[in-house]
Order: sequence, then structure tokens, then C-alpha cells
Amino acid sequence: MSTIRLIDIYKAFKDGDNTVHALFPTTFTIEKNEFVAIIGPSGSGKSTLLTMIGALQEPSGGKLYIDDVDIALLNDKQKAKLRFEKIGFVLQSANLLPFLKINEQLELKAKYAKKRYDQKESNKLLTQLGIEKLADKYPNKLSGGERQRAAIAYALYGDPVLILADEPTASLDGQKSLEVVALLKEIAKKQNKAVIMVTHDNRLLHYCDRILKIEDGVLQEVAHSEI
Ligand SMILES: Nc1ncnc2c1ncn2[C@@H]1O[C@H](COP(=O)(O)OP(=O)(O)O)[C@@H](O)[C@H]1O
Ligand SMILES: [Mg+2]
Repeated sequence: MSTIRLIDIYKAFKDGDNTVHALFPTTFTIEKNEFVAIIGPSGSGKSTLLTMIGALQEPSGGKLYIDDVDIALLNDKQKAKLRFEKIGFVLQSANLLPFLKINEQLELKAKYAKKRYDQKESNKLLTQLGIEKLADKYPNKLSGGERQRAAIAYALYGDPVLILADEPTASLDGQKSLEVVALLKEIAKKQNKAVIMVTHDNRLLHYCDRILKIEDGVLQEVAHSEI
């Protein structure tokens, strides 16, 4: 049983008479506890892959299983439920709403999923991430690193099995980037989650267990020594 299983997943976009092959047929599995990096030049297909794994965008073909659920069999409502229960997203610009305090962001996530807000879980997460004192602050009162921690707390709320991070350190300096990546690794190892991170920063790769490299829509797994 794998957390993520892709079998010949591909994505092609029609552009007039042309077809853009954003991702050629791709097969791999990722287990709980693994911290996996996706690297590759701009436009190579990284976000396309990540959004398909996150059930935000449908593949053109192939099979995708999340926690052994074939997501092609789910309707939109079931997909939204699966996203809430199993997947946490962390985005580059710390996807927080400017007009809500940090604890209210987590409360809103529960509301979206029509779940009772669990104040205890929220406190626990913020403490774990070292930002419990910022719970009643608005995002603009936080530093870039603190905002990214808050975004990770948001992603972790609801205890998903899979964390997807699209360039989570892009807006942070070197030291803060290392801290965030060390944190993502700890989440994979201590909380037994699968963590997938898209990154442009090769200095972060030694934290990762595996490296998947995409070039022009073709993905291959590479060894640390090949970077
Ligand atoms: N909605 C779309 N419509 C048409 N082409 C797209 C769409 N999304 C992505 N693409 C194309 O697919 C390729 C991969 O894009 P993307 O996955 O965003 O790359 P990356 O995240 O690696 O920068 C690019 O050529 C991009 O222009
Ligand atoms: Mg991208």
C-alpha cells in the first residue's frame, strides 16, 4: 500500500492545432515517511504534476491512486473531501488570507470541510511550529519565515497523509529556507507523512530521500550524486 501511486499519468493541453505535452506518461510510487523533491527548469511540468497529484487538475490519462483510492472514480464533492482529509498544500507565497488571523485561517479550513473546528489541534500545531504566540496576529504582522510556518500549520490541520509543497522556500532567505525544509523533513519522519516538494534550490536536496527530475515533461528519478 502506497500513499501515492501514479501509473502512466500524463497531461496534454490543446493549443490551437498544437498539443503541449506538459507531462509524458509517468509512473512512480511514494510511501508515507518519504520526503521527495521534484526539480526541473521552469515550464518543465512540475506544477502540472503536483496539481494532478493533489486532485486539483485531472490527468489526460493514466491511473492515480491516493491512499489506494482511484481518484478518477470520485465526483467533485468526493474529491474535495479527499483533498481536505488526505492532502495539505503549501504554496510559495504562503497561501494565507490577509484579513484573517492565523488561528482563524485554520478555523476556516475546518469550515470549508464542514468539520467542527478543533481548537486543541490548532493550538498543538502552532506550538509544534513555534508560532503559538502569533495565533491571533494577521499575516502581515509575521515575518516571511513565520508566514511560511503558518502556511505549513494550515496544511497540516486535519492530519493529511500527504503534504504537497510548490516552491515553499522561494520567498525566503537561505537560512530560513533550510529551517523550513528541515521542518518538512521532520513532518515526513515524525508524523509519518509523504511530503513532496517542488524546488529550484539544489542546496535543499540533501534533506530529501529521493529526487525526481523533470525536463520537457519527462520525469526520471536521479541519485543525489547526479545533482
Ligand atoms: N492550463 C494550461 N494550458 C496550456 N498549457 C499549460 C497549462 N498549464 C501548463 N501548461 C504548459 O505545460 C508546461 C508545463 O507547465 P508547468 O507545469 O506550469 O511547469 P513548471 O511548474 O515546471 O514551471 C508549460 O509548457 C506550460 O506552458
Ligand atoms: Mg510551477
